[in-house]
Amino acid sequence: MKKLLIISPVITLLLQATPYLSNKSCKECHPKIYDEYMHSWHSKGYFNNKLHRAVADKVPVYDCAKCHMPAAPDREKLASGASEPKAIYKEDSDAVSCFYCHQIAFVKEAHLSNNIILAKQAQGYKPSLFGSLQNPDSSDKHSMVHSPIYDKYACIGCHSHKRNKHGVLIFEATKPGEDSKECIKCHMPYESGGVEKMNRRARSRHRSHYFKGVHDAKMRQKSVDIKITPSKERLKITLTNKMGHPLIIQAARQMYLHTQIFRDGKAIWSSFKKSPQEDKKALFVTDYLLADGKEAPVPYFATKKGFSNNLKAKKSLNLEYKIPSLKKGDKIVSALYVELAKPSCIKVTGLDKKKWGKALLMKRVEFIVE
Ligand code: HEC
Ligand code: HEC
Ligand code: HEC
Ligand code: HEC
Ligand code: HEC
Repeated sequence: MKKLLIISPVITLLLQATPYLSNKSCKECHPKIYDEYMHSWHSKGYFNNKLHRAVADKVPVYDCAKCHMPAAPDREKLASGASEPKAIYKEDSDAVSCFYCHQIAFVKEAHLSNNIILAKQAQGYKPSLFGSLQNPDSSDKHSMVHSPIYDKYACIGCHSHKRNKHGVLIFEATKPGEDSKECIKCHMPYESGGVEKMNRRARSRHRSHYFKGVHDAKMRQKSVDIKITPSKERLKITLTNKMGHPLIIQAARQMYLHTQIFRDGKAIWSSFKKSPQEDKKALFVTDYLLADGKEAPVPYFATKKGFSNNLKAKKSLNLEYKIPSLKKGDKIVSALYVELAKPSCIKVTGLDKKKWGKALLMKRVEFIVE
């Protein structure tokens, strides 16, 4: 017994996993990428994203860690309720962390949600990170390993799909077999400047770590095309999803098209009067229901879907309206809007409607009648 007590500190030392490298620790040598990343929504999670926190606080256990707090060493305990997120742990507050994302070795496809396999780290050595660059240099803090498959798997561990414990599909951005290369093209375009402070290899560009998406007005502009085709007393609106995924890939969101006709500055026709609910074909949202048909407070509890309307990647939708006869000079305006938190989400979370339920413009087009 005594003997064991003496050796045990040595054993624990040997068995210790590679120490976690915080987001902040990357700043020393990758200041530009660090700054971009800190503006991105990957740096936001349980402790600094109000919407995420508000929804997470409505579920009995934090089984969200798998994707929202992936570096947490006690993820299983968080999911079973045996542990709670702690702000003092960098692994918890770093959200989708640099160190975690650059250790992704492989993704195993699975029914409820995919599983990420991380690189095995050799004991006592500095950690190895993955990137797609050929012959990467290593640094004092980490080795670099060229992974020919890194860019294939980097995103689909978390973003492909998610089902809740009842098997209800909450979101689906990719189909099995699709990889991350296209995601990187659209969401990590090149920014000017080298990849590290000294820029030893005199590189002129690096992959953007802003991960711009729905929160960025310019990015939203790139999401869709809207085409207006009027004819006699009829109006055709064609909405085309230009993205690599469906229009809606987050259960809290709601989008809708609003079309209006203006004559001498006054609206003479509108595709809906008070609420986008009046024009269901142009409303993109999914309702989640309980077994008794009532609305589920959050998708976590849902056993089925209610009303659901979405538009697949690269697909178009035609909407036809009956309108008053047009005159020369009439202006037709059609615009797509997104609400980060749909009305039912605002109701259940109590979040400020002015902020989280505000209609943000995705894209607006005009047509003047000749
Ligand atoms: C002590 C300085 C230093 C620190 C700290 C550091 N790095 Fe690096 N890193 C470098 C250098 C130097 C390179 C090599 C750059 C090159 O080859 O142009 C590099 C390369 C990389 C690359 C590969 C770039 C490529 O060209 O493919 C990645 C990814 C990376 N680092 C991630 C990180 C992450 C994540 C952290 C924080 C956990 C971190 N680094 C911390 C110095 C550092
Ligand atoms: C399989 C991975 C996965 C799991 C598990 C998961 N999420 Fe997410 N979640 C994501 C991804 C990926 C996004 C970003 C998707 C997007 O913006 O379309 C996201 C976004 C969100 C958002 C929107 C955040 C914002 O800034 O607008 C909320 C809210 C959210 N998740 C809540 C939860 C809650 C609560 C849980 C646990 C009950 C959970 N998620 C579990 C992957 C996951
Ligand atoms: C470990 C899980 C994980 C991985 C891997 C991951 N993401 Fe995310 N991503 C998330 C979560 C969680 C969110 C939502 C964060 C929030 O808003 O609270 C998110 C949000 C986003 C957003 C939304 C930004 C916005 O403005 O709302 C984009 C775009 C995105 N990720 C792209 C990517 C791309 C591209 C990759 C691959 C290079 C990737 N993600 C890899 C978990 C992940
Ligand atoms: C969501 C996953 C994800 C996160 C989080 C993330 N990266 Fe990256 N990073 C990538 C991907 C994907 C690439 C591009 C790989 C490729 O070349 O295809 C990349 C590229 C890089 C490169 C090389 C740049 C280039 O253009 O060759 C460096 C350096 C780097 N990351 C450092 C960091 C640092 C530092 C952080 C945190 C401050 C960070 N990354 C956070 C996914 C991530
Ligand atoms: C052809 C370009 C394109 C491709 C490919 C693409 N996206 Fe997007 N994505 C966009 C645009 C534009 C937006 C912003 C508009 C929006 O949020 O609907 C966006 C939005 C997002 C959002 C935020 C959605 C929300 O409601 O929060 C996430 C997350 C995301 N993309 C992840 C991915 C992932 C993961 C992949 C790869 C499977 C991918 N994207 C492929 C263009 C693309």
